[in-house]
Amino acid sequence: MSDKMARLKIDGIEEEIVLPVYSGSTGPVVIDIRKLVNEGVFTYDPGFLSTASCESEITYIDGEAGVLLHRGYPIEQLAEKSNFLETSYLLLNGELPSPEEMNDFENSIRYHTMVDESIHQFLLGFPRTAHPMAMLCGVVSALSAFYHDDLDIEKDDHRLLAAHRVIAKMPTLAAMCYKHGIGQPSMYPLNPLGLAENFLRMMFGTPCEEYKASPILANALDTLFLLHADHEQNASTSTVRLASSSGSNPYACIASGIAALWGPAHGGANEAVLDMLGEIGDESRISEFIGRAKDKHDPFRLMGFGHRVYKNYDPRATVIRGICDEVLDELGVGNDPLFRIAKRLEKIALEDDYFIERKLFPNVDFYSGIILKAIGIPTSMFTVIFAMGRTPGWIAHWHEMLSEPYRIGRPRQLYTGKTHRDYPA
Ligand code: SDX
Repeated sequence: MSDKMARLKIDGIEEEIVLPVYSGSTGPVVIDIRKLVNEGVFTYDPGFLSTASCESEITYIDGEAGVLLHRGYPIEQLAEKSNFLETSYLLLNGELPSPEEMNDFENSIRYHTMVDESIHQFLLGFPRTAHPMAMLCGVVSALSAFYHDDLDIEKDDHRLLAAHRVIAKMPTLAAMCYKHGIGQPSMYPLNPLGLAENFLRMMFGTPCEEYKASPILANALDTLFLLHADHEQNASTSTVRLASSSGSNPYACIASGIAALWGPAHGGANEAVLDMLGEIGDESRISEFIGRAKDKHDPFRLMGFGHRVYKNYDPRATVIRGICDEVLDELGVGNDPLFRIAKRLEKIALEDDYFIERKLFPNVDFYSGIILKAIGIPTSMFTVIFAMGRTPGWIAHWHEMLSEPYRIGRPRQLYTGKTHRDYPA
């Protein structure tokens, strides 16, 4: 129960409305407004910026302080000391795994990386020119056709198996989408390889010769996956939760998250950043684009800048910027023109009052694309990489929501349309 209350006095309603106020383990207090509907009143919060849609123990963000915690662990420490699979375990189970638990988890993921052969046929229905996100959305939803009848989402062990399956199969499906687009045969996952190394081999290997991924690039990619693993109630995670609230098949719910992530305002921004840097083309044109970003009559926005929650800096961007330097130096492309433009663009923007006043800083998408391009991943696959990273977060929120009694999500509205009128006689 709550020991704090909020008192709401609404003109025209005689009675003062008293609402409970709850505190979490940290962060803003929340006002429980559920009884308002009985008073014939809704709250109004398009985009839900002031709305806590649920209670969660998975991730905490402090936008002003640039803090991101996964189950209490700072993202900077996880990026330095953990890896993508261990962080996936942490998100899903709430604690870091013991060596035995990690070994069991790795084996479970390892032995669920293959997909049903008929998914290969399914992909053949897509045009080669299909965007990889369109294909990924389709094939992940198609998994619900294979794991449906015997899946009981009310059972904890069934949910954990579904979680392991979708984490394990996402890299395989992602690489299959890429291979379909370039007309090459898909590569089967190899069990001795780690997740990122396996993915790079499925992306760039062919049946014609052995392929060995660079450990440096595999490690950089693993860290990128880790940095994208979860981010509280962002648009795609909220979509997964809302879809899951009707009891839908988890694979279909993850597909709804992929659909929401695709947009350039969300996960599609990493692809849009590279397109933007390419359009800028030369450091001499940066001021022109900064001017466009500030021009209210120009729809152009600086992709990779700004954030709904972070109003100081995105801690993930800081880590990724550091990886950028390492990977580009390792590959001998430290003088990459796009990286040069990105660093110059960041410097100019951060000294410009327009961006300072609006607290617009580089976000997770600003530098990630430069690393992916350096690794050799095509721009059209960037958001697919984001989806692979975000999968453990999506499925952890699905599992958390279904672990407690839940109700179908059903927002209301402020209606401003026509009131009752009769059809002309
Ligand atoms: C992700 O939610 C998450 O956690 C998301 C994410 C995750 O991990 O899940 O972190 C991943 O989606 C990162 C964001 C990737 N998107 C982009 O990089 C696209 C470019 N950024 C913008 O579209 C925008 O900043 C958003 C969508 C990210 C945030 O939008 P907001 O908070 O609604 O910002 P706003 O529209 O309220 O903007 C406030 C002001 C406006 O100017 P004024 O009307 O006050 O004069 O800032 C301006 C905006 O025009 N502004 C920008 C800008 N972003 C905001 N101006 C130029 N370039 C930009 N990028």
